[in-house]
This record gives sequence, C-alpha cells and structure tokens, in this order.
Amino acid sequence: LVASFQPKLLAGKRVLITAGPTYEAIDPVRGITNLSSGKMGYAIARAAREAGADVTLVSGPTSLPTPHGVRRIDVQSARQMLDAVMAAVSGQHIFVGVAAVADWRVDNASAQKIKKDGSGDAPQLHFAQNPDILATVAATTSLNGWPYCVGFAAESENLIEYGAVKREKKGIPLLVGNIGPQTFGQDENAIVLFDESGHTVLPRATKLELARQLVSEIAKRLEQRSL
Ligand code: CTP
Ligand code: CA
Repeated sequence: LVASFQPKLLAGKRVLITAGPTYEAIDPVRGITNLSSGKMGYAIARAAREAGADVTLVSGPTSLPTPHGVRRIDVQSARQMLDAVMAAVSGQHIFVGVAAVADWRVDNASAQKIKKDGSGDAPQLHFAQNPDILATVAATTSLNGWPYCVGFAAESENLIEYGAVKREKKGIPLLVGNIGPQTFGQDENAIVLFDESGHTVLPRATKLELARQLVSEIAKRLEQRSL
C-alpha cells in the first residue's frame, strides 16, 4: 500500500528505445544480422513503462513478447530503424539506443534470390556504411535540449577506456557499457555507466534488475538537469 503512494520516476515522460539486432538483406531470402537477442532493450522498455513512462520501442527482429503497455514498431534494416526513430523522436524526453545496429549494409543486394552459376565462384558482396541512429538523434538535441540521449556500447576489450571515448564522440550525456563479451542472449549482465563525471559499475544482475537501476539513474540525471 505504501509503495503505491510513491510517485513514479518517469511519470509524464516519453521514452523512445531501440532494441534487438538489425537485418541487412543480401537477397529476398538471405541477410546479415548479429547475435543481439533484444533482451536488454526490452527489459529497459518494461522498466521505463513500470516507472510510468509512455514508451515506444523500435525493434529489430527478435522472438520476444512486447512488454505490457509498450508501443512497438518492428523494423528490419538500420535504415528502416533510423526512419522509424526519426518519425517518432519529436516530443520524446529520453532516447535509449540499445539496438545492435549493423555498421554496414550490403550495397549490392539482389532483387531476386542469388543462384549458383555453376562456375564455383562465390558472389561478391559490397558494403556501405549505415547511418548512425544514436548520433543522428543526439544531433537533434541541439534544437531544444531534448531528448536526453543514452547509448550502449559492446566492446570486446578496454571497456573503461573505449566507453569514455565513445560517449564523447557520440556527443551524449550517458553511455552504458556491457562488461564481458558474452552478454548477447543471456538473462544476466553487468554494466558500467559513463557520464561527464566518470564511470560507475552496476554489478552482475538480471537484465530486468539492471534495467530498473538504469531507469532510476536516468531519472536522477534528468532531475539534476532541470534543477
Ligand atoms: N548505434 C546506432 N547506429 C549505428 C551504430 C550504432 O544508433 N549505425 C548506436 C548503438 O545502438 C549503441 C551505440 O550507437 O547505442 C554504440 O554502438 P557501438 O556499435 O558500440 O558503437 P559504434 O559507434 O558503432 O562504433 P564501433 O562499432 O566501431 O565500436
Ligand atoms: Ca558498431
């Protein structure tokens, strides 16, 4: 009973989240993707909703159920994800980029299924760099100060050093680094928060527990910002 009288941390806030992998087509039946399960992004969507926010989740292909009360927009490619994000970003207070966005797409994708031509030669794929969704959203923040942008980083080495550098390069106030290389698909994680004053470790816990902690860390920073 007592808990129900506590104000929800993100009441009245609109939160936009990307989650999952992207899928970059090679031809109509084949493509390139990655091992992101979407679990962390979906957990953050759930935690933000529990905290009273209006939540929009732009999701690459996953096999996860939509968290209760969350508006979900399904996409496949990085460019579709960027379009969906930019169509939804106006009026958002918080953007959290959790998706494992493909850095490159296949530039010479085939309109028809590629057939073996009998020569034994493999098809040649050419790649083009995808737009950076988080950096694009972060650039719109200069218009009116919104949304507050949170990024994620999956590094395979030197997390503390790379995380701090990545936060500055992306021009965002908060970056979340995954500790340990094998977080994709797992139910647990450990994360490091990088902000302008340094870094803080949130030790190993379930992704939902970490998501709830992250939501309160974000809410705390939003409140400090408006003081
Ligand atoms: N991101 C994005 N659009 C991209 C690439 C990444 O929005 N095209 C976002 C991710 O959702 C994540 C953050 O940027 O929040 C960092 O992603 P990461 O892959 O760690 O960084 P990159 O900037 O792609 O750098 P690199 O992979 O070269 O380390
Ligand atoms: Ca990347």
